[in-house]
Amino acid sequence: MHTPPVDIDAVERAAGILRSGGLVAVPTETVYGLAADAENEAAVRALFAAKGRPTDHPVIVHINGVEEIHQWAHAPPSALTLAHALWPGPLTLVLKRTERAKDFVTGGQDTVALRAPSHPWMRALLREFAGALAAPSANSFGRVSTTTAQHVADDLGAKPRGKVDLILDGGACSLGIESTIVDLSGAAPTLLRPGSITRQQLQRILDEPVPDANEHAPRASGRLEKHYAPRTPLTLMTAAQLAERLARKSSERLAVLAPLHALQSCRANVVLAIAAEPVDEYARLLYAHMHRLDTAGADRIVIAAPPAGPQWDAIRDRLRRAESGASKT
Ligand code: TXA
Ligand code: MG
Repeated sequence: MHTPPVDIDAVERAAGILRSGGLVAVPTETVYGLAADAENEAAVRALFAAKGRPTDHPVIVHINGVEEIHQWAHAPPSALTLAHALWPGPLTLVLKRTERAKDFVTGGQDTVALRAPSHPWMRALLREFAGALAAPSANSFGRVSTTTAQHVADDLGAKPRGKVDLILDGGACSLGIESTIVDLSGAAPTLLRPGSITRQQLQRILDEPVPDANEHAPRASGRLEKHYAPRTPLTLMTAAQLAERLARKSSERLAVLAPLHALQSCRANVVLAIAAEPVDEYARLLYAHMHRLDTAGADRIVIAAPPAGPQWDAIRDRLRRAESGASKT
């Protein structure tokens, strides 16, 4: 897995499109984002329309680094500590906003979500653009996130027939799941979305507990019960349920994602995809596997439930939401 060298011409073209209010799909280390000028209301509205996302949902503002935090937010010491330790990288901070973060990026809330991504193409683009980029994940609302330029082309598509002015192909995303989101706008930090940066890491750096946000937490589409969902019905199964199901004769065509050892007694109508371990390898490939499972022509996707343990929190979170969001039969 490697990131191709930055194509400066493509990055300059992308910056030009963004300056004139266009939409560019951009590679980040987590998932592909759909970017627009964070200070251009019409462009951000077009972004929501392209995704089919409700306009009152807030969007992450991507910046170059910690030195730009103060333009957008009032940052308590804990925010600066985390940003210094983990930026650029897969961490999003929710903070009290300044004037600069308008209602159209915050969904009318008094907070703004900020992230400084580490992907070299995205960093080059932010430098070239010399501003901040609003960017939700580059997928239709509620659907599986995208981790390659091809995934974006298949879902949103490029103009004239698709919805995006340019898809910047910076290779496959190295982490594969969305950033960890921490809310530092209240009296104590809370975890809004688990990601490859774990709760334990955050707690170690902050030297205080980082509990899950309660149900009164601010709106966040990634927190909706139904999200990250394929079109095919999806069922998570324990190892025992999976073994029983795979040994049973059935006319239902299955697309299965499970470790190789769980697939010994598989019957012939089963489409296989092999889950990789360790966890970061699994995360990197999860959405690519989901896209493949979803286009395999199966009646049902079956995924082996991941192991227990906090390092699997983010994966379990995405799989659980994908299961409840997949079309039901
Ligand atoms: O890794 C990522 O975070 C990717 C890449 C492209 O950076 N972006 C991403 O964006 O996952 P999106 O929009 O799909 O998910 C961002 C989440 C949403 O659930 C959104 O509601 C939440 O962040 N969010 C944004 N601003 C917020 C705010 N002010 N308060 C609470 N949640 C917020
Ligand atoms: Mg998303």
